[in-house]
This record gives sequence, structure tokens and C-alpha cells, in this order.
Amino acid sequence: MELFFKMPSKEARTAMSDASLELGNRFRGNEYKKNAEEAIIKTTSHDHARVLSSGNAAIMAAMSTMKGPVMIPDQGGWSGFKKICEFYGLELVNLPTEMGVIHLETLDELVKLKSPESLFFTSFAGYMAEQPVKGIYDICEDNRVILVEDASGSVGDPQKKLACGDHSHVLVASTGSPKMVNVGNGGFISTSDQGMVNDMSFILKTLQGSPVTCAGLVEEIKRAPESLVKTINACEFIKKEIESALHPKKRGINIAIPHDEPKSVARLLRNKLQVNGGGMITTCPRYDRINQPAICLEVKNLDIHCLKKENLREIVDIVNYTI
Ligand SMILES: Cc1ncc(COP(=O)(O)O)c(C=O)c1O
Repeated sequence: MELFFKMPSKEARTAMSDASLELGNRFRGNEYKKNAEEAIIKTTSHDHARVLSSGNAAIMAAMSTMKGPVMIPDQGGWSGFKKICEFYGLELVNLPTEMGVIHLETLDELVKLKSPESLFFTSFAGYMAEQPVKGIYDICEDNRVILVEDASGSVGDPQKKLACGDHSHVLVASTGSPKMVNVGNGGFISTSDQGMVNDMSFILKTLQGSPVTCAGLVEEIKRAPESLVKTINACEFIKKEIESALHPKKRGINIAIPHDEPKSVARLLRNKLQVNGGGMITTCPRYDRINQPAICLEVKNLDIHCLKKENLREIVDIVNYTI
């Protein structure tokens, strides 16, 4: 079995190298930017979009408009939420979750109690388990909370449950490596709130992505739905075969397996599951995944051509033998 780390497609790399030869041509630069914004709007159904230099840049831009408390999940979020919140000197409100997944009643109660201005969360808790985004949005709407969904792992969801502008006020995403829109760098933000775009205008310009990123994004965003579906299906297959995998019934793009000795087991697994160009084993406890000792199989890091049944079978056998 040969496993490969996810790389930007050949078409994206060609588009980016072509764009790099036109750097400095303002007219062509604006065209690349416009095409990328249109591609994002088509995917997210929001009215406005900007390509930025990274996913954290998109979070920085979104948070720059906030003055009140920022609510985040207690685990399964993104560490950048905390760091950027601290950077702006904003109050953080921790939302207790069920292993990263937001429980709607708890959210409703805490939102009423703490009156946060915004909720930042990721479409998949720790990349492991789909959040009930529509339910979360309805509670936020009713309580005037701005919902910011980090869709780095979910852009292109054909079910339109995740990364969909109909039920998120703001979408942010990294398009770095290895993400669903796998440009290798950059990020984006989208919203239908014109006032918010106006408020962010300076920071959006300051943190803007290059025409090269825009060119790559136009190619990679086309591939996001296939990449997402194949990764979700692979995780579903693996989860069925690993008894202790968390969130067995939820869609996800990685798999967490609780273990008392995650570091030593991870070492063994990294030896047995070598990935050309990167890796697929990480360990917890970690805010970005889950706050308990566990091994994570980062299926999202793999090139989708590796996600064949015989490879998945072999991964399952290796994991079950090792843990
Ligand atoms: C969910 C999530 N959001 C945001 C980021 C930050 O993205 P970037 O590295 O492009 O700043 C990452 C990076 O891995 C991430 O996993």
C-alpha cells in the first residue's frame, strides 16, 4: 500500500504558475481576484467574498468587527479562535460540548445567560463529527448572535448542511495544506452582510490573498465536493471497522480513537502507516480535536486516490492490530 499526502491538483499548480508570471499586471490581478470571489460566492451562496492570505487571516478579519464576548466550543474548535480573541482583547465564553459536538439546548441556555456577540465554531467538531449547523444558526438568529463557521474542512458539502451561507452569517476557511480547497496557502471569508464587509474593508485589503492564490482557488474549489464526499465515505468505512472510534454515526473527515498511551501508539502507527509527503497520525488531548487522550487518523490529509477499499481495509487491519 502506498499512501500520498494531499497535494494541489496539477491544474491548480499550472494555473498558479501562469498567474505568477503575470504578477504586477494590475488588470490581470483584478481578474484573478474577481474569478475567485465569484467561485466562492457560487459555492457558499453568500453575496460577498474575499480571498485572504490564510485561514487565520479570515478569522482575524471576522473578529475585527467584534466588541463583545466571543463564544467558542470547549473542544473540537480551532486554536486560532482563542489566540485571535486574546489578540483583540475580547472576552472568551466557553461552550460545553459533547466531545466537541454542540448540544442545542446547552447552546440556547448559555447564549441567554452570557449574551455573546458571536459564536465561532468549525463545521466538523475536531474534523471528526458534523455539527448541527442549521439548529445552531436558528438559535443564534433568535438571540442576535453572529455565527461564524470555520468551513476549512467542509467547503463544497453537496448536502448543503455545512459551509452554506443560508445558515451561517459568516464563513471563513483556510485553503492551506491539506484542506478541502487545497491550494497550499491562503484562505477566504464570505458573508451577505454588506455592513460587515464595509467595517472590515481595511483589514480585508491588508490581509488580501495574492492573484496566485486566487488562480489556484478557482481550480481547487471545483474539486472540493468530490474530495469531501470521498473523504467522508472513507471515514465512514473505517469507523465501522474500529469499535472504539468516536462519533461512529456522524459524518467526519478524520477519526479519533481514545487510547491511554497515545504518544507511543502514534509512534508505532506512524511507522506502519507512512505517507509520502506528510503524515496522517496525530495525538490528543488537543483543543483542535478532543480534550482526552486519543489517536487521530487524519484521513483528510490523504490524496483521495489513496482512499480505495483495499487501502482502507489495510489501514483498519494495521490500526486494530496496533491499538
Ligand atoms: C479548522 C482550521 N481553521 C483555521 C486554520 C488556519 O488556517 P491557516 O493555516 O491557513 O491560517 C486551520 C489550520 O490548520 C484549521 O485547521
